[in-house]
Amino acid sequence: MEVLHDLESAIPNPQTWKDSLNSKMVEIAFIRYKSLLFPSLPKTALITLSEGDTPLYDVTSSFPQFNSIKLKHEGMNPTLSFKDRGMVAGVSWANHLGCEIVICASTGDTSAAMAAYAGSAPNMKGIVLLPEGKISPEQLAQPIASGALTVGIETDFDGCMKLVQQLTDKHNIYLLNSMNSVRIEGQKAIGIETLHQLNWQVPDWFVIPVGNAGNISALGKGLRELFEIGIIDKLPRLAGIQTESASPLYESYKNGFSELVPQKAQPTKASAIQIGDPVSYRKAVRELKYFDGVVDTVTETELMDWKAQIDRLGISICPNSAVAVAGAMKLRVAGIINQNEDVVVILTAHGSKFSNTSVEYHKNSANQFANQTQTIPPNLEYLESALNL
Ligand code: F0G
Repeated sequence: MEVLHDLESAIPNPQTWKDSLNSKMVEIAFIRYKSLLFPSLPKTALITLSEGDTPLYDVTSSFPQFNSIKLKHEGMNPTLSFKDRGMVAGVSWANHLGCEIVICASTGDTSAAMAAYAGSAPNMKGIVLLPEGKISPEQLAQPIASGALTVGIETDFDGCMKLVQQLTDKHNIYLLNSMNSVRIEGQKAIGIETLHQLNWQVPDWFVIPVGNAGNISALGKGLRELFEIGIIDKLPRLAGIQTESASPLYESYKNGFSELVPQKAQPTKASAIQIGDPVSYRKAVRELKYFDGVVDTVTETELMDWKAQIDRLGISICPNSAVAVAGAMKLRVAGIINQNEDVVVILTAHGSKFSNTSVEYHKNSANQFANQTQTIPPNLEYLESALNL
């Protein structure tokens, strides 16, 4: 299922709509773009944690192999991931419908966001199903601290997802994974806000990591709608990036999207996208075809080395975001992205959610960008020697 709005009635004149945004900069992003995202949601039902207005970092001076490369840092949202963009829509809609119990399966970030937004709603309990032992400690802490009923399931994400569907078929509990199309409407804001920041100048590429394939579907739907109602006059291309350990969309892409063969996803440092049976597969394929998209994979070494290089710029990113950065670099080397092109990479979560992964990387001198620490006794001479003074 998907949500379709009567956008031509909501936005009869694209230029008037663009001009009207100037007076809405004090509003939260969801309200500013609401006539595109969710015109029918009553404002009184809104549950927000002031998500959005995330930075778009221009890192072209560090990577001159592109005409321009910008990083849209969705990790700078209230629960440190892009999931807040979908949850403002999802939890507000649940609130509007009077749902008292909401649930999701998660690799860590959806659960953190859902629990926080449900916690902030007047009368809502969150339940989260997590693949036991497969998410970071920081991600685990988030739903617990937000008061959600947190259940570890001895399976992987795909197993949790199946259970959530069985449970919500049987009980009056509202499902808030991105297979609930309302979430997708909120996530459209990422692409729309990026283009607004670019003064509606459309880049040649958007590069994005893919797990359950909801975010690439949302990005595509939002950009497609902008094009269809005349707010932009050019289409970017989309690149969806996975890891070699969990690459069902890539395998399907190689076969001309003939079919999805679900995989048993293998462990990866990009644990949030360790998904073998993406729920939004069909929506993602539609967008990839519409935007002349490509799909590629990266290795564990590639993603961790690119994470370290972006972290060093002061932009702290998670391994899943690094998958997209590594993918952009790989596509540039392969000549699929050209030197004269403008690229936007979507960073999906903050590095602080994966501190252990960073610490382990930097401990190991075999890693190309390792920044090893030293421990010394409390003595000036030792300190001078450690600092080569
Ligand atoms: N990046 C991060 C940080 C994620 O948490 C996810 C998905 C993705 C990328 C991929 O997005 O699934 O829409 O293709 N995390 C989900 C979760 C599955 O449960 O938090 P997608």
